Amino acid sequence: MLKVWRREVLREFVRTKLNGYRFILVSNREPFEHRHASTGINCVQPAGGLASALDPVMRACGGLWIAHGSGDADTQTVDKFDRVKLPPDDAQYTLRRVWLSKEEHEAHYLGLSNQGIWPLCHVAFTRPVFDADDWQAYRRVNERFAETVLEEAGSDPAFVFIQDYHFALLPRMLRNARPNLVIAQFWHVPWPNSEVFNLFPWKDEILDGLLGNDLLGFQLQHHCQNFLKTVDCSLEARVDESGSEICRGGHSTHVRPFPIGIDFDAHAELADSDAVANQTRRWREELSLKGKMLGIGIDRLDYTKGIPERLRSLGRLLEMHPQYRGKLVFAQIAVPSRSSLPEYRNIEQEVDYLTAQINRRWGTSSWRPIVLMKRNYNASEMIALHRLADFCVVSSLHDGMNLVAKEFAASRADEDGVLVLSKFTGAAHELKEALQVNPFSVEECANAYRDALTMQPDERKRRMRKMRESVEDNNVYRWAGKLLSELARVETKEKQVPVSALETEFQPAALGVAV
Ligand code: F6P
Repeated sequence: MLKVWRREVLREFVRTKLNGYRFILVSNREPFEHRHASTGINCVQPAGGLASALDPVMRACGGLWIAHGSGDADTQTVDKFDRVKLPPDDAQYTLRRVWLSKEEHEAHYLGLSNQGIWPLCHVAFTRPVFDADDWQAYRRVNERFAETVLEEAGSDPAFVFIQDYHFALLPRMLRNARPNLVIAQFWHVPWPNSEVFNLFPWKDEILDGLLGNDLLGFQLQHHCQNFLKTVDCSLEARVDESGSEICRGGHSTHVRPFPIGIDFDAHAELADSDAVANQTRRWREELSLKGKMLGIGIDRLDYTKGIPERLRSLGRLLEMHPQYRGKLVFAQIAVPSRSSLPEYRNIEQEVDYLTAQINRRWGTSSWRPIVLMKRNYNASEMIALHRLADFCVVSSLHDGMNLVAKEFAASRADEDGVLVLSKFTGAAHELKEALQVNPFSVEECANAYRDALTMQPDERKRRMRKMRESVEDNNVYRWAGKLLSELARVETKEKQVPVSALETEFQPAALGVAV
């Protein structure tokens, strides 16, 4: 049987292959925020896939994580160098916080990143907003992070691993300042086709910025192809589509797909814990599940997630199939996100409205078909919900990967439960045994819910077993290991001079690992 990537394997790989290199990860979102609470200061993991996927990687690799300090008690928990050891109960890596003013946060994060690049990259029919002041702030914040990385790296050999669309200019800034840095970036969201990307007023600067990387990773092969085409149509550069390599100004950037995963083992262990077992009992009570079936959705409250579409198709299910009236509860966790932006307030209003409408039309004095829960829930609470669900719906209109789909499978050691999954997610490329749907089609989704509710136990088991194998195998350690192996390979090829720590390609077989 093939062994899978695990935390120890990645730790050993980093120890032997990146030895002598500083490992610096950069993201906008920090892995843990310190927040004031009535009981003192709490340390909490923010919602979203980035923090939960990369925290285990950093625990394995050690090193330094640079991110925006966004918690209201963050300044009180750092040392005089703005650093704090994490995770709080078992320090394994260091977080260096970067402080942004309210204006910088609004223009860089809410403005250019989330009103400009986010809708541009997700085909969800929300019009992007491109504001020249936001663009200037985006550049300034990228500069601030560049200064911090350079200060932390000093003159040591360093590998800088940048996350996501908040930092498209950072690689070029670092490359210009320190040509011998090893720089990779992972773009967590989709990359649109070149016609769509052409809408971006500062596209040449962004593309040039990204070409400061040695390695640029996307979730899917077709995002890589879209990127290569976009550069080919826009910049003076040699684009080798078959080799997936771009050469500009004598420097090469390698473009590769690395579908991200989760820490399957840690997730499965928590799913098996007493905390989760106790929480399932609480959910049963709270949601009045006795004699009822349960469907679930767990998302950030974001217009890309297709929550209104999901609610409409649940309404349609109740209309077409009266046997589910009084018998099905759909629990929707909607974690507040970017809520100061009008597009996010609008989607929240729409979700509230549709929930009330469906509950009014079909609900009774003792039964509400939709239970909408709008707050942050911890991992045990979400896993307990996974474990109780007859089906889980991920209906994103467009999504780079979607880790909720993978987490649902990882929670189901009983090999039961059905996943209804949008075909427009990265996860749909791996989780073929899900019931895949077009989230824009109300009928198709309603039929999929009915199929999920009537699927035979052995069929559910067969599908869930396969999905679990895939999630276990393509876990986040494999993602990081593949990315670092590829980086080692391209670095050796490019530099032609032995970079001692990166000179040999990782031989996974030596550690008994399938790459
Ligand atoms: O999916 C893209 C992404 O940026 C993730 O990387 C992140 O976890 C999620 O969106 C949430 O984003 P934010 O940091 O804006 O809350």
